[in-house]
Amino acid sequence: MCRLAILLALLGFLVSCGGDSTGTSSTASVMSVSLSGSPSAQIWQGQCAACHGAAGEGNRALGAPVLTQLSTDYLARQLNHFVNGVRGAHPDDAAGKRMALSVANLSESDISDLAALITTELPPAARPAATISGDAARGEDYYVNICSACHSGNGQGNDALGAPALAGLNDWYLKSSYQSYLEGIRGTHPDDFYGAQMARLAPALAKGDDIDDVIAFITALPPRRAP
Ligand code: HEC
Ligand code: HEC
Repeated sequence: MCRLAILLALLGFLVSCGGDSTGTSSTASVMSVSLSGSPSAQIWQGQCAACHGAAGEGNRALGAPVLTQLSTDYLARQLNHFVNGVRGAHPDDAAGKRMALSVANLSESDISDLAALITTELPPAARPAATISGDAARGEDYYVNICSACHSGNGQGNDALGAPALAGLNDWYLKSSYQSYLEGIRGTHPDDFYGAQMARLAPALAKGDDIDDVIAFITALPPRRAP
């Protein structure tokens, strides 16, 4: 009960300041989604849609990213990490903490059902609007030389390496998540095997506008429809 009260208070606060959804696809907030009515669809509608949008398209004002381009493996791993305190527990991780509080009650089977629902029942999101400007041609060089080895040449990710799709992600979230690896806010928990790999790599783009240039390149790649 206590947890629910905290969650509702949090949502009340967040929703009241969540009017501005600049940077999400323009049709997102009015997109109607028809779901099966399964238990996981009910969890999605009752517990996730308020922040991530009914179609999982993301909401910049709430810091909640688009989810529909991610793979079931990656979605399930992140949800388990939020529930188990591997992600979102760092004292400076305000966004991660909001997310972790929101999913604390999920069981392992809720998590695998939700990961399946997000990748099969939610419609693929449109490419998110760009909110960060950068030199995409310069960014492409960095991307090809540094990022593509794990995230694949077209930004579709590689589950065998635990690397998520980056194409289709909101640019503001690409930036904030990259920054969290760089600052040790994400990827430093001892049980975060894949997060540690990304955290070790993050200093590669620690200088100046490099990350904005790479993000400008990634944001132009077409999102995939997750399998
Ligand atoms: C209170 C708002 C809120 C609610 C409710 C919420 N989320 Fe989140 N979610 C977030 C935020 C904010 C982030 C980004 C955290 C960060 O920046 O590290 C996030 C991140 C995620 C991620 C990680 C995405 C990635 O690319 O790594 C997944 C997966 C996710 N949420 C799924 C869900 C699901 C499924 C539910 C419902 C069971 C849910 N969320 C409910 C706010 C929320
Ligand atoms: C050695 C392999 C490797 C390389 C190279 C790599 N990454 Fe990653 N990256 C990963 C893994 C693994 C994850 C998932 C970590 C986790 O679970 O937290 C990840 C996660 C991310 C995320 C978080 C996505 C999300 O949905 O939350 C971003 C953003 C990211 N990488 C950007 C980059 C960029 C930009 C580059 C190039 C400068 C890059 N990565 C190079 C392995 C790599």
